[in-house]
Amino acid sequence: MARTEILDVRVPGEETTARLGRAAEVIKRGGLVAFPTETVYGLGANAFDEEAVGRIYEAKGRPSDNPMIAHIARPDDIGLLAKSTSPHMEKLAKAFWPGPLTMVAAKRDEVPRRVTGGLETVAIRLPDHPVAAELIRLAGIPLAAPSANLSGSPSPTKAEHVIADLDGKVDIILQGGPCHIGIESTVVDMTASPPCVLRPGIITREDIETCLGEPIAGHSVITTNPQAAAPFDAAPPKSPGMKYAHYAPKATLLVVMGQDAEKTAAELMRLKKQNEALGIRVGLLLAGERSHYEFARDFYAKLRDFDNEGVDMIIAVAPPEVGGITTAILNRLLKAAGNNIVRV
Ligand code: TXA
Ligand code: MG
Repeated sequence: MARTEILDVRVPGEETTARLGRAAEVIKRGGLVAFPTETVYGLGANAFDEEAVGRIYEAKGRPSDNPMIAHIARPDDIGLLAKSTSPHMEKLAKAFWPGPLTMVAAKRDEVPRRVTGGLETVAIRLPDHPVAAELIRLAGIPLAAPSANLSGSPSPTKAEHVIADLDGKVDIILQGGPCHIGIESTVVDMTASPPCVLRPGIITREDIETCLGEPIAGHSVITTNPQAAAPFDAAPPKSPGMKYAHYAPKATLLVVMGQDAEKTAAELMRLKKQNEALGIRVGLLLAGERSHYEFARDFYAKLRDFDNEGVDMIIAVAPPEVGGITTAILNRLLKAAGNNIVRV
């Protein structure tokens, strides 16, 4: 593909509507459009067009057994993809859609296996972003879309990240400004009984349990005993995407974990000095005064910034896992670190 059009859709109005109309036409004709969502940018194609979906794998350089999320614009469109809905699904859709929740359900025959990575289930999400909503609505079909990064690099939370990875490989990149959540949606398997969180996110297991009024299943990132801590990946990968280290920066990422804040801080400084003495360029990824939400929002962008600055080693301090959103933060940190963990 020779040229990628970069279309600014940040300011609502006639021009933006016309640009979104053009992007929707490209989707209908089997093309690829990168678009912003509230979590990360997605790379979309017509979910019912096998060839178009195949082009997503090519552009990303992604293994073709890795299933994609189908994005819809109205809750009723679940029926286009899932064989049936359940009272549980309806409750979660009502509570969290539009929003960063993806539900896995038994797929209709019409949904190509290319989208589902050969599985009989399909992942469905209704994003909370005006650009994504309008694009899907104008295209009139669900969009199969993984995150719009090259396979292996951190997820894109700004159009600039998409341009760095995919310029020349896709038809259109929509410039919609930074994503305000910054980490990918929570994926919950609704075919399991009880439902099971396959990928933690901003919508937490606790949020889902409160909504359903009953306990659900999920993986803990680590056990509460730090000595016996098992990394998240010790569990078999139910969600196939979780088995790839696909959030990794080029620099080595080292995560320091411990219950005692003073000890972890001391270990962090020791590691920094030790490595700098060897001529290694070290960057520190610290929460500082920022909330967990802000840490999540900036996380992938920071990894890319460190790579662009030529940092060789990033050292991060993990928040203690206390449930809620810390589970998602720890999950992404440990994935990016390839389980390169120092326990204190
Ligand atoms: O926030 C998000 O979810 C973003 C935006 C663009 O919507 N998308 C995203 O897509 O993160 P991707 O492809 O990077 O991650 C999809 C995740 C993977 O972990 C994949 O294994 C899981 O969803 N998944 C997709 N279909 C599945 C299925 N049928 N069964 C189990 N897991 C599935
Ligand atoms: Mg991804």
